[in-house]
Amino acid sequence: MPRVIFVDEGKSAEFPTGKTLLSCAGEMGVRVSHVCGGDGACGTCRIEVVEGWDNLTPPTPDETYKELDPPYRLSCQAKLKGDVIVKVAKID
Ligand code: FES
Repeated sequence: MPRVIFVDEGKSAEFPTGKTLLSCAGEMGVRVSHVCGGDGACGTCRIEVVEGWDNLTPPTPDETYKELDPPYRLSCQAKLKGDVIVKVAKID
């Protein structure tokens, strides 16, 4: 199973392929804002991908519309394909 590491939180766990990073964060007790509840609408669930960009499903139209550039993804849209190292993104 893919391993998710929230490097800034010092937390690591394994999850099944296809699970969203937002859902992984929730189960790991990592606080990621998600105002729209995971619909890809609010943009508050941003995370920074430190390693493993290609181990996530490609950016969805909700992300490209928001002009979210690497290393950032919406955690409610990015699904696991392999191991990733991420950080909770600071929102200005
Ligand atoms: S939770 Fe709103 S965009 Fe991800």
